[in-house]
Amino acid sequence: MVPYNFSLTQAIVLAAGKGTRMRSQTPKVLHDVLGRSMLEHVLDALETLNVGGITAVVGHASDQVKEALKGKHQLTWVQQEEQLGTGHAVQLCTSSCANAEHVLIVCGDTPLLRTETLAALLQEHIAEQRDISVLSAVLDAPFGYGRICRDEQGHLLNIVEEKDASEEERRISEVSSGIFCVRRELLFRYLEQTDNHNEQGEYYLPAIVPLAVADGAHVQATVMSDADEMMGVNNRTQLREVTEKMQMRIIRAWEAEGVSVEQAHTVRIDVAVHVGSDTVIRAGSQLLGSTHIGDGCAIGPYAIIASSWVDDGVQIHAFSHLQSAHVSTGSQVGPYARLRPEARLAEGVKIGNFVEVKKAVIGEGSKVNHLSYVGDSDVGRDCNLGAGTITCNYDGANKHQTVIGDDVFVGSGTRLIAPVQVGKGATIGAGSIVTQDVKAGGLTLSDRTEQRHVKDWKRAVKK
Ligand code: UD1
Ligand code: MG
Repeated sequence: MVPYNFSLTQAIVLAAGKGTRMRSQTPKVLHDVLGRSMLEHVLDALETLNVGGITAVVGHASDQVKEALKGKHQLTWVQQEEQLGTGHAVQLCTSSCANAEHVLIVCGDTPLLRTETLAALLQEHIAEQRDISVLSAVLDAPFGYGRICRDEQGHLLNIVEEKDASEEERRISEVSSGIFCVRRELLFRYLEQTDNHNEQGEYYLPAIVPLAVADGAHVQATVMSDADEMMGVNNRTQLREVTEKMQMRIIRAWEAEGVSVEQAHTVRIDVAVHVGSDTVIRAGSQLLGSTHIGDGCAIGPYAIIASSWVDDGVQIHAFSHLQSAHVSTGSQVGPYARLRPEARLAEGVKIGNFVEVKKAVIGEGSKVNHLSYVGDSDVGRDCNLGAGTITCNYDGANKHQTVIGDDVFVGSGTRLIAPVQVGKGATIGAGSIVTQDVKAGGLTLSDRTEQRHVKDWKRAVKK
């Protein structure tokens, strides 16, 4: 695909509002939708348009917003101290738009907006030499949005805000998306002529429309093919609805790449996740952050995998939890396993139920199948750590290392008191407490207490 090039267009993202109805300490545009803030989603959609530049208008908690976006996008920040309206916000961008021919205006709280939609708007706007283009949508429930008023021939006349609308205007089901593309020079000229004599006492961006119409300018409202894309988030319910729509979009995209998703409405797959073909994601599983899942894997049901790398042909069984872990080809994990940060499994490793691995390498073909803790360890290849093997890595102050050579067999219930090293091919007897380094080969076991038998002993009888 030829990359887009709209270098003569400057984009403005409006993100100064507080988002009172979110009832949150977090500024509205920073709320998360599947691993990315709403504002980031909008900026990502703008990024691939290759516009001349992007200006973000911030106000409420602007330091927090800037900090969250640090290093992620190249932006010009404009501060709007008082939120006097969308028109006022755009007006503050006069100098950052000085070199542009056209200005694209979007809101920071519409994460479903897609690059293709914006590109089509810009292409039409430029090809038809329009002065103002606005995207609209026909909604069953238009409440809250600005209504698109047209004349009998269907020409755009005005955009009337809900609060300023007459009974008749409120019955109009075509609404403004708030997404505009405007010839730069006209935009700022008309904005200067607007006032705040309306119900909200705000300077409205849509107020430029009747001014342009009176001037005989070329204005047009185009109905979006997918009204979901303009869904703005003002409260928690809308945040959930937008997240659900985004989730289905992501899942459909992976299905098209050969991934199966069972009971999709129970699954979470974040935007930055990769899933290989012929992989099955089972019910209730969550793939979070920048997780990579290879080809031909089976995940879940109810597995949680965050910021981890899972190679091809891996099975992550039910109720396993992985965080910043690396699992190589052909390994099996769970059910009920926990891989904590820096757990690294080589190829063909088996980690079974109720096993926790932290900051440890498990060598190729090794098995830790039941009820174990392996932390701060380096385990060789083809080892078998029996049920209940514990690396005692912490002395209350410092962590210590356990190093186990290749082909070692550790009997069940062994405690390895770190720092300790186990030589290649060693066998450790079940129930041992290992306090010193273990020699290669042979059998090592710690002394066992004498076993006694009390012949005439009787169990207590319940009274
Ligand atoms: C706005 C439009 C409406 C449209 C709707 C689509 C206006 C007056 N109304 O209404 O026609 O149907 O969007 O969602 O433009 N903002 C600022 N500074 C301000 C005011 C707002 O940056 O002074 C930002 C907000 O943070 C938000 C966006 O602009 O991201 C929209 O503002 P909001 O007050 O939510 O407008 P709506 O009532 O939704
Ligand atoms: Mg709003």
